[in-house]
Amino acid sequence: MAEQAILSYLETHEEIADSGNFAAECGIDHAEIVNAIKSLHGFLYVESQDIKKETWVLTDEGKKYAAEGSPEVQLFLAVPAEGSIAKDELQKKFDPAIFKIGCSQAGKNKWVEMGRQVSRKVVQVEDKVKDLLLKIQKGQVIGQVDINSLKARKLIVLQTWKGYSVRKGPSYAPQREKFATDLTRENLQSGDWKKLKFKEYNFNAKGPPSECGHLHPLNKARCFEEMPTNRYVESSFWNFDALFQPQQHPARDSHDTFFLKTPSTTMQLPEDYVERVKQVHESGGYGSRGYNYEWKREEANKNLLRTHTTAISSRMLYKLAQDTKQNGFTPKKYFSIDRVFRNEAVDRTHLAEFHQIEGLICDRGLTLGHLIGVLEDFFKRLGMSNLRFKPAYNPYTEPSMEIFSYHEGFGKWVEIGNSGMFRPEMLQPMGFPEDVRVIAWGLSLERPTMILYGIDNIRDLFGHRVDLDLIKKSPLCLIGIK
Ligand code: PHE
Repeated sequence: MAEQAILSYLETHEEIADSGNFAAECGIDHAEIVNAIKSLHGFLYVESQDIKKETWVLTDEGKKYAAEGSPEVQLFLAVPAEGSIAKDELQKKFDPAIFKIGCSQAGKNKWVEMGRQVSRKVVQVEDKVKDLLLKIQKGQVIGQVDINSLKARKLIVLQTWKGYSVRKGPSYAPQREKFATDLTRENLQSGDWKKLKFKEYNFNAKGPPSECGHLHPLNKARCFEEMPTNRYVESSFWNFDALFQPQQHPARDSHDTFFLKTPSTTMQLPEDYVERVKQVHESGGYGSRGYNYEWKREEANKNLLRTHTTAISSRMLYKLAQDTKQNGFTPKKYFSIDRVFRNEAVDRTHLAEFHQIEGLICDRGLTLGHLIGVLEDFFKRLGMSNLRFKPAYNPYTEPSMEIFSYHEGFGKWVEIGNSGMFRPEMLQPMGFPEDVRVIAWGLSLERPTMILYGIDNIRDLFGHRVDLDLIKKSPLCLIGIK
């Protein structure tokens, strides 16, 4: 309606000088007129110019007096025409604020005699305040002296009013042309598609937000947080020493580990923690006898390509222990999937670089039973329910278990991971409370994948010899499908 009113008016008039007056004349809400102007402007039907006007509008208090009368008149009318009324009694008739203002204004106007008793001093009064407020409400102009007094009483405030003056635009037409946005079956059947004007396709329009999966907060709370594994280069300290792996351990030999030439050593380690790690290696503590050898800082400083993602677990646990000291202990579940490196002879089942799925749960009261349960659950979801556990040895876990799964192709049990409960010699120097336990595992990503997809040479799965065709042809997801 507003749109048609504007277009029709401009058909016979040069200009709509003031959208406010125009709205009042048409009896349409100004906001509606403004919306129509904006939309018509967008399609170049009209040109518009801003008009800003300062107008006085009533405050809430002003609106109340415009409706009910000013306090002074209300008060005057409550005083009997003849005789008088006790002030206390008069007060009971009013809300305290109205009474106070009424008394002071009516007194000032010399309308009433105020004392213990209140009586009228004049026969009749006019409610000038109410009349002025009503005029302002209607948009009429009033004198500056009156404005000042209403403003002083906070009954009116200045408001900036925004409107437009409007003229025909370059695409003006007395009626807005309707564009079709869809080509329907009816259009085709009736043949009216030939006459229809179609709306141009807007390639810049944003598409509807895409639907995707979301996590309920309860699920999130149950979830594993991903560890930041974005560092292939690690110091021996976090890869070995923090994990209570002695410095003479064969894994720390260059036959098993790639050490870095440049930079060959790490720049920074947390010194007080390094000291506690040294102590536990040399002489034990926390109920341990240690290894009884001379721990060397230079050995810990050496940079290497991380041999397991457990290096990141040790960093994360150290951080968690620091946080525990400040804010108390919060149980955590962490995971990561990333690459590790070992200086190994390459064969059908071994590569010098491969991926590990690392996980840990840190909480009070955890047992080996929890670890077995978590691992069985994990592999079952990948479609592998035939698991075996074998006691093993890691310097950082006790007890430790290797995990085996049956490989149909090989016709034998294949080791797919290693796990255990982190030793107190690792957790205590970090600063964890004594009763906090950590169950942890490091799984090969390649091995279970080979088992699931029946690949019997690891080099067909990873590295430069992988057949790209095989990747292109393989379905996105096969997990659990026989
Ligand atoms: N770091 C071990 C490996 O590389 C795996 C492991 C992780 C074992 C955590 C126990 C605990 O084989």
